Amino acid sequence: MKKILVTGGAGFIGTNFVYYITAKGYNAVVLDKLTYAGGKDNLEPLIAEGKVKLIHGDICDADIVKSSLNGVEEVIHFAAESHNTRSETDPDLFYRTNVEGTRNMLEESFRAGVKKFIHISTDEVYGSIVNGYFAEDDKKQGDSQATSAYSKSKSQADDIAMEFGKNYPVIVLRPTNNFGPWQYPEKALPRWISNILLGDKIPLWGEGLQVRDWLFAPLTAECLEFLLQKGVPGNAYNVAANHNPEITNKTAAQWLCKILGVSIEEYIEYIPDPRPNHDFRYALNVQKLTKLGFKPANDPFKQFEDTVEWYQQNEQWWKKRKDEAESIYK
Ligand SMILES: NC(=O)c1ccc[n+]([C@@H]2O[C@H](COP(=O)([O-])OP(=O)(O)OC[C@H]3O[C@@H](n4cnc5c(N)ncnc54)[C@H](O)[C@@H]3O)[C@@H](O)[C@H]2O)c1
Repeated sequence: MKKILVTGGAGFIGTNFVYYITAKGYNAVVLDKLTYAGGKDNLEPLIAEGKVKLIHGDICDADIVKSSLNGVEEVIHFAAESHNTRSETDPDLFYRTNVEGTRNMLEESFRAGVKKFIHISTDEVYGSIVNGYFAEDDKKQGDSQATSAYSKSKSQADDIAMEFGKNYPVIVLRPTNNFGPWQYPEKALPRWISNILLGDKIPLWGEGLQVRDWLFAPLTAECLEFLLQKGVPGNAYNVAANHNPEITNKTAAQWLCKILGVSIEEYIEYIPDPRPNHDFRYALNVQKLTKLGFKPANDPFKQFEDTVEWYQQNEQWWKKRKDEAESIYK
């Protein structure tokens, strides 16, 4: 049975990936620091079935990384500090985990003879774009396009991974905003869903016209499996849903009200943008991945419905995280 190392596998996208890949017959070793964003509870059923071994540790710790790599040929590297708002108050932590941690993962993985390493980057390394779409080659070296401490750290990590990719089998994946089950309620969609479920309003920043390319996390997992088989080492790939028409935050909030059967007028409130210069629109060109053969099925409204249903059915999961998640906005 194939054994894969998944860093950050107790976080949001990591958990979705671990469920996906173990259902395909893999065993997963999850290396995770279990920060506020990581939950052992996410993986408990898989740990009980013997499909997942959880190692509680830091990707910056070379010894623990070495021992986690025992018998592993493939690595999916999700572990990161991932929240823009938090990065404004603790940029050093973001640099340490996202940049130094990624360098450590790459160094130790290739010292151990790993055959494929996929680094999860983000669309935020390109920054915002008014019209059109960023292709993979549009990323400039350094962090000049990125606009927050989070995205700057991810941009530097992306460069390091691409540099390793000149000599080692590294692939960089740059996904757009993910959503789906197990997303910590600090992030927009689970925050809004849980607000409505508690009878609270959705706070839309500014006029709510920002555009995010909402990508369902199980599709990111599917894309990673595809890249494990077909991805060409040394390459970066964009992955996005490319909705037509694009989905503004206002539309997303209205969909959630509709799905949950509450009044849009009562449940959406417009507030002054707390991060007025934050990126307005992300959009990626996905031709490189499409040409390679990956064409995900997309039905955003249905994916929103499925996500809402998960939060309705897993109230205990988000309720115990909600107060901490809200505290960062106060
Ligand atoms: N969520 C998105 O919309 C999105 C979009 C594009 C890219 N990404 C990238 O995907 C990856 C996963 O994002 P997510 O939303 O699942 O994040 P998340 O915050 O939900 O999970 C991150 C996980 O990493 C773990 N972690 C943090 N620091 C660690 C360390 N030093 N050592 C070991 N583990 C550590 C946390 O405990 C947590 O389990 C990140 O690299 C992120 O930058 C996310």
